[in-house]
Amino acid sequence: MSRAQLVEMARKDLEHGRNGTLDQVDDVYQVPIEYYYDAERWEAEKAKIFRRMPLMLAATAELPEAGDYKAMEAAGVQVLITRTRSGEVKAFVNMCSHRGARLVDNGCGTAHKFTCPYHAWTYSPDGDLVAIYSEDDFGEIEKRAYGLTELPSLEKSGLIWVTLDPKSDLDISRFLSGYDELLDQFGFKDWHFQHMQRVEGPNWKVAYDGYLDYYHLPILHRNSFGTEIGNQANYYSWGPHTHLGRPDAGLEEFEGKTDEEWPITTLVAGVWTIFPHISIASFGGGGRSVMISQLFPGDTPETSYTNQIFLMEKVPDTDELKQEAQQQFDFLKFVVQEEDYATGIALQKNLDVGARNHVLFGRNEGGGQRFHKWVDAILETPDEDLNKLFQTG
Ligand code: FES
Ligand SMILES: [Fe+2]
Repeated sequence: MSRAQLVEMARKDLEHGRNGTLDQVDDVYQVPIEYYYDAERWEAEKAKIFRRMPLMLAATAELPEAGDYKAMEAAGVQVLITRTRSGEVKAFVNMCSHRGARLVDNGCGTAHKFTCPYHAWTYSPDGDLVAIYSEDDFGEIEKRAYGLTELPSLEKSGLIWVTLDPKSDLDISRFLSGYDELLDQFGFKDWHFQHMQRVEGPNWKVAYDGYLDYYHLPILHRNSFGTEIGNQANYYSWGPHTHLGRPDAGLEEFEGKTDEEWPITTLVAGVWTIFPHISIASFGGGGRSVMISQLFPGDTPETSYTNQIFLMEKVPDTDELKQEAQQQFDFLKFVVQEEDYATGIALQKNLDVGARNHVLFGRNEGGGQRFHKWVDAILETPDEDLNKLFQTG
């Protein structure tokens, strides 16, 4: 079913390529300029988007075996993701129930129990408090009531979503709006984690806009890769999540093939964004790989940071392949840091000087338009209505 959807999109991209057309939305759209720097707006985005929406915080490949874990900070919340003895993923606030110490240092690892660095209370990967140091001295408490605080989580298609609000009843599957079935076609659950690196950027939406935009490719990226792809995108959406394809007459060579015969590298090419803060760029060839860009607001409205997580279908097992992979990581860091984010950081300085009151998204930038409309809609939606927002996709 989802493979058929991928083929259908590829056929549309082929048709547009042949006709010299692209999917355009109806109108040019204005985004008020203060949305990119206003402190109140930025606080609301952190509270109502990052703290309420499911966030794709990890790939299965980062914690593939029972006992593996990942600890990280996400939008100001310290999170611990574990894989329990039964192989299930769980997520917790990375906080000891005694007096609140961070239980596990940030990073990935393997541990069958977690002992707090402050007074050695010990927890299982299921989040249960299993031992209290000098328990007789401490006094009696109901241990069952002092496990780690669990966060809603879902592992799907080799990716792991976590909602940072422990009380959230937002259905993560529903939020995914069927998009996970398309992501499933990558086969990430059997891929390997290879590398992670961090890049500092401008306001998170200034940065994210760039991932929804092919318009800039042959211009801003003319010296790196941009002239190979063209400046046109076709946008395909599931709920708030958007895939970027492009008009491509070159797909003609697969035209007569059945759905099963289309090569998977061609079908998953392009950019896959996951609302509100993920972009997956796919690289084909023999050693298939993806760069998952994971954006978070920084310490001020004008800053953000991005974790670039690299997954590969096969572990590079020769020096030559390892070197090639490293060159790819370095190249993509260069492109994002020196081209996209350097432009974004300089752009950011222009926004609050009073020169203009809005920025524009063209009829060819429907992905960006849709993203900003979803941000507005979520900010306006009270907690109790969040599930309804995703009902209709
Ligand atoms: S804060 Fe963790 S044991 Fe005291
Ligand atoms: Fe770019």
